[in-house]
Amino acid sequence: MKILIVGSGGREHAIAASVAKSPKVSKIYCAPGNAGIGLIAECVPIGAMEFDKITAFAKEKEIDLTIVGMDDPLVGGLIDELEKEGLRAFGPRKNAAILEGSKAFSKDLMKKYNIPTAAYETFDSAKEALSYLESARFPIVLKADGLALGKGVLICQDLKEAKEGVKAIMLDKQFGTAGNRLVIEEFMTGREVSVLSYVDGKTIKTMTSAQDHKRALDGDQGLNTGGMGTFSPSPFYTKEVDEFCRKNIYQATVDAMAAEGREFKGIIFFGLMLTENGPRVLEYNARFGDPEAQVVLPRMKNDIIEVMEACIDGTLDQIDLSFEDNAAVCVVLASKGYPVEYEKGFLIEGLEKFEGQDSCFCFHAGTKKTDQGIVTNGGRVLGITAKGRDLLEARKNAYEAVQWINFENKYMRCDIGKAIEEV
Ligand code: AMP
Ligand code: GLY
Repeated sequence: MKILIVGSGGREHAIAASVAKSPKVSKIYCAPGNAGIGLIAECVPIGAMEFDKITAFAKEKEIDLTIVGMDDPLVGGLIDELEKEGLRAFGPRKNAAILEGSKAFSKDLMKKYNIPTAAYETFDSAKEALSYLESARFPIVLKADGLALGKGVLICQDLKEAKEGVKAIMLDKQFGTAGNRLVIEEFMTGREVSVLSYVDGKTIKTMTSAQDHKRALDGDQGLNTGGMGTFSPSPFYTKEVDEFCRKNIYQATVDAMAAEGREFKGIIFFGLMLTENGPRVLEYNARFGDPEAQVVLPRMKNDIIEVMEACIDGTLDQIDLSFEDNAAVCVVLASKGYPVEYEKGFLIEGLEKFEGQDSCFCFHAGTKKTDQGIVTNGGRVLGITAKGRDLLEARKNAYEAVQWINFENKYMRCDIGKAIEEV
């Protein structure tokens, strides 16, 4: 089979590495890809939002399956465009990707189908939002309705902060049109867990759990980022939590989407908060998480192409999804200053040390191939994943492997997976 992957981050590199293991696959293309993906796939200079070019390329090369990794093209309807041309594609159609594309939609869905989540109100005008805040309890959470690179969520400690937040999102349009509507949500406390799943419209199969570290600095300080590191499985995702979520959240979400005439095929990512009163949905994503994919996919035993085809064909009930009985930790190597301001273009040394390794992986995110070698080309540069028999060993291995790499302004968090010491 000829496969095209759309995207250019660590997630897409992890997807490409899984795809490369499938005996069904003879050729992998990636649009636009990065320097690391270029080692296992042919990268083509087409942006993820250039739908016409992607479709034309897939037709010309007779691509058997296009896998869309990123949220923007999914929410924008790339799957629909590919299907219109008779091409097979993995991911939700536009009418289902709204599960991630609109927080107001997903909150209304959860309310209508009794799926546990934080209490909320939706606002179309700043005036109404501001007046609601006058009698609200703090802290409180403001969420821009649309996609905002994971930055559209503000946790406000008091009325003053919340008012400034409403102004930034709805009036100053800090996140563009994503802020035309606003969800104001009850603040929850607890541990966060990410559970990714494959869905074929009716059947859902969950993958092993993971935990992300969203803040830029150690001790969960600093600004929210795309994610600075992950571990899998999460020891906090117990059998009881799993049972509760199976009963109240996973299948209920798939059934709710089907009942709304928005059949979901692809990946549903459940962002969960384990509160005192039980698990609650924080958010849905319609794709693999990044860096969650970098710890979950290397542990998956199945042929990813078989699983994805089953999602498209509605035969996921026949797949026995299984994961290795071990653990993985991913530490993101970023450019100093991320997520605000950082320099690019520094030579990366030590990449060759990962060649031929089977339990340590170097997934590329912001990298570029030049005549001088592979250089940094983004905020998140590399994701270093290591496996181990258990989380402690995986963590030790990951922090050893990050030392193999050097580039100017290399920055990482030193406490990824520290929480596992509490177990
Ligand atoms: P989201 O993009 O909705 O996952 O939000 C980003 C981050 O904000 C989450 O990972 C949580 O850490 C935090 N967050 C979102 N909603 C809430 C909430 N209702 N209560 C507490 N924290 C939240
Ligand atoms: N790591 C969180 C996300 O991919 O949204």
